[in-house]
Amino acid sequence: MEEHLTVGHVAELAGVTVRTLHHYDEIGLLQPSTRTPAGYRAYSAGDVERLREVLAYRRLGFGLREIADLVDDPTTDAVAHLRRLRGLLVDQRDRAAAMVTAIDRELEARAMGIRTTPEEQLRVFGAQLYDTIGAAYPATRRTEPRIAARIWAALGDARTVLNVGAGTGSYEPADRDVTAVEPSAVMRALRPAGAAPCVAAAADSLPFEDQSFDAAMAVSTVHHWPDPIAGLRELRRVARRVVVFTYDAASHQRFWLNRDYLPEFAGLVVGGPALADLTRAIGGRAEPLPVPWDCADGFFEAYWRRPEAYLDEHVRRAVSVWTRVGPEAEQRAVRKLRADLSSGVWAERNGELADLDAADLGLRLLVA
Ligand SMILES: C[S@@+](CC[C@H](N)C(=O)[O-])C[C@H]1O[C@@H](n2cnc3c(N)ncnc32)[C@H](O)[C@@H]1O
Repeated sequence: MEEHLTVGHVAELAGVTVRTLHHYDEIGLLQPSTRTPAGYRAYSAGDVERLREVLAYRRLGFGLREIADLVDDPTTDAVAHLRRLRGLLVDQRDRAAAMVTAIDRELEARAMGIRTTPEEQLRVFGAQLYDTIGAAYPATRRTEPRIAARIWAALGDARTVLNVGAGTGSYEPADRDVTAVEPSAVMRALRPAGAAPCVAAAADSLPFEDQSFDAAMAVSTVHHWPDPIAGLRELRRVARRVVVFTYDAASHQRFWLNRDYLPEFAGLVVGGPALADLTRAIGGRAEPLPVPWDCADGFFEAYWRRPEAYLDEHVRRAVSVWTRVGPEAEQRAVRKLRADLSSGVWAERNGELADLDAADLGLRLLVA
């Protein structure tokens, strides 16, 4: 019979309280497989392995709900968890080392009577947006097969593909030779085991020779680039074919979530390039990309026919828009949506959506 460890022994080994383990059991995060004849919780080797993952993610600062999603993900086995945890820990160690160096430098400067500039003081904290929200990403962001099929068809017969702003690699075609580019260390660490090799770089300065790839792709990322036009020209430079999944900011304003609940969205895109400018930068054409009603990838527009989803914190945390508008706008939008859903106002205003299987919400595939 498999050997089990008692709850007290596990708590002692792991340096947590028995109460913590009881709590994990109660919330379904870690339920021991059996009980002793006296009724105490007893942990199998598999339970202990799961506890190790839970505690490691906890130490990295993940919330219990995020951890539950991570450890329940059927596509991530123990080795993949270890690789991911290792990547995140190395990143944390490097950040701590960078901060120690910055503090030492400032102490030295102060000792010599020199004051560092505000820019110098803040540089070490200038984490990218996705270093902040990345951890929540895998909970709801995954490949939507119908969108993937459109992207892969647009790649044509390209054998070598560069994926810029690759994130966790949701739309990387498995049957081609893919190289990923991703500036966020957290996103790089969250790439699954066996994913394409990933280079730490940003779109506006790709470390590749002209025409190094048959095709370059960029999915749900162009709006994050400081200079989207320069980035798209870079894609054009390094590849013979370019495929970009983005949105038309003008028609996007008609999406009910922006129109009725989050007017702040308009402020995020103001001053950004128009779709025509993006299309021109790669010398291509824009094709509408309707969003299926049951879209599997939880991007901002994905839940247009499932409005209750936007009330879920998990759903919002995996989408940068909610972080960028700030907590006040987010909470106000959520409160208003909740009220309109329960009063029937939302259904009245958006009744026609119930009959649609897919909607054009301004998402576009740019192909050159
Ligand atoms: C919404 S995620 C999309 C990830 C992935 N393409 C997907 O579809 O799942 C946006 C990604 O763009 C990356 N990104 C942000 N600024 C970038 C830049 N200047 N160059 C390239 N990628 C960037 C972020 O780190 C993040 O991983």
